[in-house]
Amino acid sequence: MGESERSVPRHVAIIMDGNGRWAARRGLPRVEGHIAGAEKVKDLLRYAKEFGVEYLTLYAFSTENWKRPKEEVDALMELLSRFIGEYLEEMKKEEVRFLVTGRMDALPERAVQDLKRAIAETAEFRGHTLIVALNYGGRAEIVDAARKIAEEARAGTLDPARIDEPLFARHLYLPEIPDPDLMIRTSGELRLSNFLLWELSYAEFYVTETFWPDFSREEFQKAIEAYTKRNRRFGGRK
Ligand code: IPE
Ligand code: IPE
Ligand code: MG
Repeated sequence: MGESERSVPRHVAIIMDGNGRWAARRGLPRVEGHIAGAEKVKDLLRYAKEFGVEYLTLYAFSTENWKRPKEEVDALMELLSRFIGEYLEEMKKEEVRFLVTGRMDALPERAVQDLKRAIAETAEFRGHTLIVALNYGGRAEIVDAARKIAEEARAGTLDPARIDEPLFARHLYLPEIPDPDLMIRTSGELRLSNFLLWELSYAEFYVTETFWPDFSREEFQKAIEAYTKRNRRFGGRK
């Protein structure tokens, strides 16, 4: 395929950063930034459908975010349940499959229940998939995969000599989801912050200074356009 004809990314992963700075800029408490950020998620899913992006993965809470003050963590978990409550009907109407990546079972019980219900009630849909990374860490995911593989080896169902990249990838949290093609980070930080370490190996990166609650349809389109102009070589010499 020629560079000018590269199609839209099939899977876009986004580090939704800058809610706190967005709020501070307005003299508001941080939680107001998180509320505005959650509203933006609903818009993003509409844009993804419009632009033909099949899979959208959104980084909402990292394994390191537990280090934040308890009030902020509690507010984020509360917001999560509220978001699912408000949004589940729309996801069903729009036939969007909802998935979670991360150590979901270590989240507060109420959140786990809400998430599991949303996953179950949208499981039949295949057109568009929204994946929310919650209590997610790229290192934790790799460690969890290693543990599963070690258990199979100990049980005698897996020969360690058979461990290769495809086998390892099948033990990650969501083995059936293709790797992201494009990774977007809002609010300017040039780092991964432990997001999808394995899956982003060959993703194209796009960073914008815009804070997450201000991320617009135009900005999303700009990121996709930038992607279509990239020359993905995967280590070769195309
Ligand atoms: C991203 O916004 C949301 C989460 C990490 C939960 P931040 O809360 O990190 O906002 P900044 O980076 O402090 O502006
Ligand atoms: C990454 O943002 C995690 C999420 C957006 C959920 P952080 O704000 O936690 O990352 P650092 O601390 O700037 O690396
Ligand atoms: Mg941040």
